[in-house]
Amino acid sequence: MQRRFICFAVALVLVPALAGQGAAADRANGRRIAERWCAGCHVVSPGQSRGSDQVPTFAEIGSAERLDEGALRAFLADPTHSRMPPLSLTRSEIADVVAYIQGQRP
Ligand code: HEC
Repeated sequence: MQRRFICFAVALVLVPALAGQGAAADRANGRRIAERWCAGCHVVSPGQSRGSDQVPTFAEIGSAERLDEGALRAFLADPTHSRMPPLSLTRSEIADVVAYIQGQRP
C-alpha cells in the first residue's frame, strides 16, 4: 500500500519533468524567442546583418564544444555573465531556444 503510494508520488514528479525535456522542443518557437529577446545583441540567424560584434553569434555558440545542451540550458536558466541581462524564460522556452541554437551547428 505504502509502496504503491510512493510509486504514484514519484510518477507525479517525473512525468512533467520528462515532458519538459527534449521531445517538446520547438525550434520555430525558439527562433521567435531569439529574434525577440536575443537579436538586440546576438546575431541569431545567418541572415541577420546587425548585432554587436562584442557578442558571440548563435552560430558560434551552437558550435562551441563547451556549450553542449546541458550547459546551454543551465546558462539560460541563470545567466551568470554580467554583460547579459537577466532573462526569465520558462523551461520549455529554454528548450526551444537551445534547440534553435544547436540547429545552427554547421
Ligand atoms: C543586452 C545584450 C544581450 C542580450 C539581450 C542577450 N545576450 Fe547573450 N550574451 C551577451 C554577451 C555580451 C555575451 C558574452 C558573454 C559576456 O561576456 O557576457 C553573451 C553570451 C551568451 C551565451 C554564451 C555564454 C557562454 O558561457 O559563453 C549564450 C548561450 C547566450 N548569450 C544566449 C542568449 C540568449 C538565448 C538570449 C536571448 C534569450 C541572449 N543571450 C540575450 C549579451 C546579450
